[in-house]
Amino acid sequence: MNLIHVINGPNLNLLGTREPEVYGSETLVDIELRLTEIAAKAKVSIQFRQSNHEGDLVDWVQEAGGAGAGVILNAGAYTHTSIALRDAISGSGAHVIEVHLSNVHAREHFRHRSLIAPVARGVILGFGSFSYDLALQGLLASAGKQKS
Ligand code: DQA
Repeated sequence: MNLIHVINGPNLNLLGTREPEVYGSETLVDIELRLTEIAAKAKVSIQFRQSNHEGDLVDWVQEAGGAGAGVILNAGAYTHTSIALRDAISGSGAHVIEVHLSNVHAREHFRHRSLIAPVARGVILGFGSFSYDLALQGLLASAGKQKS
């Protein structure tokens, strides 16, 4: 695994100003820079993307799955609604770690169900932006790129 895709869904472009009491004050660029640095130490590249459009996320998951790359996926609200995204994961065989900044189980009922979790390799949530770091560590360790 020499490339890890980090795929971010709707409204995550607003991180930093969006409900900071829920999502923290770091921006998506802050997270991208930190992950890129961590991955570089393991000689792995990061492809970091965000879209507000479901079809883009489907395309990117398929691309990663087809290439056998690992995926860190924060699908935002599509986590709770998108059968298309779930099918993209199961259909492409993408090795996906689902992440969330917030603990969705401590929030509104409609956030308790994830359509993605049953087809993900793992789920990490509730650690703020550090959820991404933990997912990266998990992917690197499972690929033998990091001592754990
Ligand atoms: C989120 C949780 C989702 O319920 C929400 O729609 C988001 C962000 C998180 O990272 O905590 O957009 O995925």
